[in-house]
Amino acid sequence: MATEMALVKPISKFSTSSPIFSNSRYGKFTTVRMSSTSQSTTKAAAKGGKKAAKTAIKETLLTPRFYTTDFDEMEALFNTEINKNLNQSEFEALLQEFKTDYNQTHFVRNKEFKEAADKIDGPLRQIFVEFLERSCTAEFSGFLLYKELGRRLKKTNPVVAEIFSLMSRDEARHAGFLNKGLSDFNLALDLGFLTKARKYTFFKPKFIFYATYLSEKIGYWRYITIYRHLKENPEYQCYPIFKYFENWCQDENRHGDFFSALLKAQPQFLNDWKAKLWSRFFCLSVYVTMYLNDCQRTAFYEGIGLDTKEFDMHVIIETNRTTARIFPAVLDVENPEFKRRLDKMVEINEQLLAVGETSDIPLVKNLKRIPLIAALASELLAMYLMPPIESGSVDFAEFEPQLVY
Ligand SMILES: [Fe+2]
Ligand SMILES: [Fe+2]
Repeated sequence: MATEMALVKPISKFSTSSPIFSNSRYGKFTTVRMSSTSQSTTKAAAKGGKKAAKTAIKETLLTPRFYTTDFDEMEALFNTEINKNLNQSEFEALLQEFKTDYNQTHFVRNKEFKEAADKIDGPLRQIFVEFLERSCTAEFSGFLLYKELGRRLKKTNPVVAEIFSLMSRDEARHAGFLNKGLSDFNLALDLGFLTKARKYTFFKPKFIFYATYLSEKIGYWRYITIYRHLKENPEYQCYPIFKYFENWCQDENRHGDFFSALLKAQPQFLNDWKAKLWSRFFCLSVYVTMYLNDCQRTAFYEGIGLDTKEFDMHVIIETNRTTARIFPAVLDVENPEFKRRLDKMVEINEQLLAVGETSDIPLVKNLKRIPLIAALASELLAMYLMPPIESGSVDFAEFEPQLVY
């Protein structure tokens, strides 16, 4: 299990202007120190002491990741002379969509934010901060990857490159907006520090396509589901950021559609038995990661009036239905066995976490973990081997930008 340490600083330690955010509509963006999930951090920050409150937090496999890839291979994939499947007119149309920049004036804050944050206290405050941090990290991770792809593909395929750059603009906005949210809680992430200090996970281009397609679509379904729920149940609207999710999620939807177009341009990633196995693998890892993560944070979802497991299953089912339009195979997530096994994994994961909390020496802890990890692995394997749903189509419909709801 990969672990990393991160540092926290209260907001009084803001330094200025990270150039990577110079294209954000916030103008120059504030650089802030990294992450907090521990209570001591919030307390330290609340005191607003001049000295940086440095608190170590533990990151796990379930923490949002930063990705890097083989950029040379990416260049070859998007070279129109090598790849005759590239439908440039489709990418041109997509580029126009991104240039339209529907959300240019959407992310504007008001005084409601700080007032609402001041009213959130007790355990919910802590969990809220963690939600903002994790979301900000995930958005920022997209920003870094898309920014680099935009830079690296400029010569080979300027149209695709520009789309990546415009997507990085969107992700910078999202990350920036969440980070501003953290400032309401007197905290913030040091995104510059995060860029340098964090480990990057290497994925070959085809895995980047599967993983990012899924994360954009699951992001869309998460945001829109929370938005709709709070619209219907305004008594749980405890912080105004959720009101922005309706337009925000359309950005994620567009990003997902772009990856769908990219996958169509690389039929070798969609049309053989290996593609089917990888598609199922990525679906499984994305769904399980979200479920385990969210079940560790039920206080957050309950705090906004959601049933965590119901919310997650809704998001998984909808994401899976969307994904089935492009992936050649998906999981049968609507089979009750799937949820049963997910719930079993939650139980095992809780036992694993409990082992970490004991005062045993590391060797004993590791010995206790072995059967639990084996049990998790066996659940995962069983889910992976459940009869899949054949899906996708190589005769893809023309791309049309669309609202899914
Ligand atoms: Fe985003
Ligand atoms: Fe996105």
